[in-house]
Amino acid sequence: MAKLLVADDERSMRELLELVFKREGHQVTAVSNGREALEAMQKTSFDLLITDVKMPDVGGIELLRSAREQAPEMMVIMMTAFATINSAREAFKLGADDFIQKPFDVDEFKLVVRKALEKLDLRQENALLKRELLKRGNLGDIIGRSPQMQAVYQMVETVAANSSTVLIVGESGTGKELVARAIHSLSPRRDRAFVSVNCGAFTETLLESELFGYVKGAFTGAQSNRKGLFEAAEGGTIFLDEIGEMSLTMQVKLLRVLQERRIRRVGGTEEIAIDTRIVAATHRDLEKMVKAGEFREDLFYRVSVIPLELPPLRDRKADIRDLTQHFLDKFARLTGQAAKLCSEEVLRYLEEYDWPGNVRELENTIERAVALEMSEEIQSQRLPERILRYSPKKANGELYFPDNGVDLEKYLSELEKSYLLEALRRTNGNQTKAATLLHMTVRSLRHCLDKYEIRHLTGQLREVAAQHRG
Ligand SMILES: Nc1ncnc2c1ncn2[C@@H]1O[C@H](COP(=O)(O)OP(=O)(O)OP(=O)(O)O)[C@@H](O)[C@H]1O
Ligand SMILES: [Mg+2]
Repeated sequence: MAKLLVADDERSMRELLELVFKREGHQVTAVSNGREALEAMQKTSFDLLITDVKMPDVGGIELLRSAREQAPEMMVIMMTAFATINSAREAFKLGADDFIQKPFDVDEFKLVVRKALEKLDLRQENALLKRELLKRGNLGDIIGRSPQMQAVYQMVETVAANSSTVLIVGESGTGKELVARAIHSLSPRRDRAFVSVNCGAFTETLLESELFGYVKGAFTGAQSNRKGLFEAAEGGTIFLDEIGEMSLTMQVKLLRVLQERRIRRVGGTEEIAIDTRIVAATHRDLEKMVKAGEFREDLFYRVSVIPLELPPLRDRKADIRDLTQHFLDKFARLTGQAAKLCSEEVLRYLEEYDWPGNVRELENTIERAVALEMSEEIQSQRLPERILRYSPKKANGELYFPDNGVDLEKYLSELEKSYLLEALRRTNGNQTKAATLLHMTVRSLRHCLDKYEIRHLTGQLREVAAQHRG
C-alpha cells in the first residue's frame, strides 16, 4: 500500500482516481490545485504524486518544481492533454517520472502507477544500500561493522585529531593495541614513532629505566647514557599497555610526567621536556583498583581524560563472520595458499560460543583450523572441544538447545567423551578409579574408551603422574 496525492481541478477526475486507486489498496488524498497539494505535502510525505498540468492557482509544472525540492524521493506522474504537450516536455526536464495522456484508459493508468511504485521501491532500496555501504566494515586493520564498532571508529577518529591522553579499556584480546596503533596512525603524529611498552612485563626498576632512560653510572651496568622510550617516542605516541600493573611508586613518577611533560633519566638531574602523546590501556577495572588503593586516584583521572571502551566479542556477535573472513584471508596470505572456506556449521559454532579470549581467541581458533584442515572448506571437527561443547544455556541449568537445532548424537558423544577424559585426568589414568567416578564397570569404561579411541591416553596420564611423583 502506498500513499498517493492526486491534484486535479476537475472534480470528476479526482473522484475517479480516488476510487480507482483506493480499490487498488492505496491511501489517496485528492486536492484541487497545486497550492493545496503543497500544503498536503507539508503535513505528510507521499510516495507518489499524480498531477494535472493545467490547474488554477499553482499549476502542475510549478508544483513539480517545488515537489522535487521538498520530496526528492517522491515519484511524480504528470497528466497531460494534447494542448499541454509543450509543458510535458518541460516537466520531463524537471524530473517527472512518467506521463499519462488524457483521456486515459483506467487499466493503463493502473499499470503506470504500479511501475512508478516499483521504481520507488528500488529507489528507496538503493538509498538504504548506500547507507549500509557507508557504514564501514573496518577502520584500517580493525574489522567489524556492528554498531558498537562504528562507535569505536568514531571515537578513534575524534581522539586521533588531538593530543590528549587516551585510556583504552577492554577485556583481553579485544584489540586494545590495534586501536592504540590506529589512533597513532590517524593522528598528525603518524610519521613519528609509535612505541609500545608492556608495563606488566618489567620489574619496577627496569620499567623506570626503560621509560625514562638512565645516565652513565646510575647503577651497575649503566656504562653509558641511554635514552628512554619516552624520548624515543618524541613527537610520536607512547603506548603504555597494562597500565594497571604499574607499581604505586612508578605511578607517582608517571603522574609527574603527565603533569609536567618532562622526564628525568634515572640517576640524572637534567629535566628533559618531552612531546609524546600517551595512550594507555588496561584490561583491569581501574576504578575498582582506585577504591582498593591499588591505583592512584589522581593518576586515574589524568589518564582517563578520554576513556575508550572496547566491547567484548560476545556483545557484538554480528562481527564474527567478518572477522572470520578477515583471518581466513590473513592466514591464506601468510601461507601463500588460497583462502579456505568455512562451512555454515562452523560459522554457527563460532557465533554460538562466548569468546572469553575475544578476538585473539577467534584468531587463534581460525589459525589452528586452517592448519589442520586439509580440504578446501573448514569442517567443524577442526574446532577445539571447548567450542564444540559450548552451550550457552547450560550455565543457567537450562537445556542446551540452540535455535538452529542440535546434532544430538554428536553432542552426546562429545559430552560422553569429555566426561571420560575428565575422569581419567582426575584419577591420573587409573581405569578402576575412573570407572568408579563414572558409576560404571571397568569393562564398560574400556568399551567407551575404545569407542573414542582414547584408551592409549590412560597410559600417558599414568606416565605423566609418575614423572611428577618421581
Ligand atoms: N576488531 C579487530 N579486527 C581485526 N583484528 C582484531 C580486532 N581486534 C583484535 N584483533 C586481533 O586480535 C589480536 C589481539 O588484539 P590486541 O593485541 O590488540 O588485543 P588486546 O586488547 O591488546 O589484548 P590483551 O589485553 O590480551 O593484550 C591481534 O592479533 C589483533 O590483530
Ligand atoms: Mg594488548
